[in-house]
Amino acid sequence: MNKHKAVIGCQWGDEGKGKIVDLLAAGADIIARFQGGANAGHTIRVGDKKYVLHLIPSGIIHPDKICFIGNGVVLDPFTFKEELQLLENEGIDYQGRLFISPATNLVLPYHKLIDAVDEGNRGTTSIGTTMRGIGPAYIDKVARHGIRLVDIFNPERLRRRLEFNRTMKARYLDGSTDERADLERTFNDLQAMAPMFRPMMVDVSRRLYEANKEGKVILYEGAQGCMLDVDLGTYPFATSSNTTVGGVLTGLGVGPKMVGEVVGVIKAYTTRVGSGPFPTELVDDIGEKIRLLGDEYGATTGRPRRCGWLDLVALRHAVRINGVDSIAVTKLDVLDELAEIKVCVAYKLNGDIFSEVPLDLAELSHVQPIYKTLPGWQADTTGTTEFGNLPQKARDYLKFICEDLGVSICLVSTGARREETIRI
Ligand code: GDP
Ligand code: IMO
Ligand code: MG
Repeated sequence: MNKHKAVIGCQWGDEGKGKIVDLLAAGADIIARFQGGANAGHTIRVGDKKYVLHLIPSGIIHPDKICFIGNGVVLDPFTFKEELQLLENEGIDYQGRLFISPATNLVLPYHKLIDAVDEGNRGTTSIGTTMRGIGPAYIDKVARHGIRLVDIFNPERLRRRLEFNRTMKARYLDGSTDERADLERTFNDLQAMAPMFRPMMVDVSRRLYEANKEGKVILYEGAQGCMLDVDLGTYPFATSSNTTVGGVLTGLGVGPKMVGEVVGVIKAYTTRVGSGPFPTELVDDIGEKIRLLGDEYGATTGRPRRCGWLDLVALRHAVRINGVDSIAVTKLDVLDELAEIKVCVAYKLNGDIFSEVPLDLAELSHVQPIYKTLPGWQADTTGTTEFGNLPQKARDYLKFICEDLGVSICLVSTGARREETIRI
């Protein structure tokens, strides 16, 4: 197996992928994002510094790593520019080591406007999107009238495509006084940003292919999580991209042999932001306690995250789909105080017991979780760096998860900082 690793969220996002990518980046040469957009919020804590990245791969924090944004990403150029500014403010030099595929579709202001209008129209069945324009941008990509990064270097084509989009989106844009509907302004803004993007535009697929031949190590950074995958997640309460491992191939233009190990990131409990089924959700004091102890508020939108117990049924699905080789379990410390910890081992639906997710994932809103209760360790694990130093009951909890999923464990995270990690 080659050394390249894909880091994939196995739940509903916010598993702690940012921290895990930052850790694994130390052993890689290249870090590449393959899907999603500024809906992602990846947090990295180094010492007292906190970085929240939405589009730029988490590897950028390491001064010597090369970062790529693949064609599978939808790139909001405005957010991207702000993120570059943030890096500059932090003294992080990205020049010459941050590259984007010319085929990357852009998220433009009108996509955000449409996202808001569509969510409003969905009423009680709204998805609870991040309002970052993700769905509308992917719709345009698939409908083949998206605007790609390369288009901004051809003003005539850019204008023509924007005009076509004005026609296609007349019901949203015509007569709107929202400044995001102003396509002339968008045209001018994109033109002004073209020089910033020019040195970053490269053939990402070829660069990765060559890097592989030279023996360089690549880390693929997933965004969102398996259960938010547009095909394999809890559709329609999902995001609009393939968050699962297949997205690596199509989102960067690499062959399957260029994915070595698949590292699944699993939070020691479950969270979800936005609407949609969540069988193990806790709408009680324990859920509130986990939210408080885990500081479970969205890194992108600040929304309180819904909290619940670990769901092994959903995780079996994630491990199978992604071909997960090993797992990184995060936020173990958040469970430190609990006297009992429950784990969902099966679902009950219409009197029948299921150990796998139903064919129709929409049925997740009707299943009843069946729990195994494990004793809590009620001891402080924060900052533990040796597996042997964890309380026996914490080790038992981790072993229970690994054995059920049939995977090994490569990392346990016991705090938000880099050093608060057990390497196994
Ligand atoms: P991502 O979207 O998967 O990268 O995850 P987020 O960054 O949105 O959310 C994870 C949150 O948990 C961030 O605030 C991290 O700093 C924090 N975090 C990551 N690992 C740990 C951990 O082991 N313990 C604690 N207490 N916090 C952690
Ligand atoms: P990271 O990478 C958690 C959720 C939204 C909403 C649904 C669709 O930080 O794990 P979208 O804006 O994509 O159309 O919203 O997906 N969502 C996330 N939830 N973490 C994320 O990213 C998410 N990105 C999107 O809350 O339910
Ligand atoms: Mg996040």
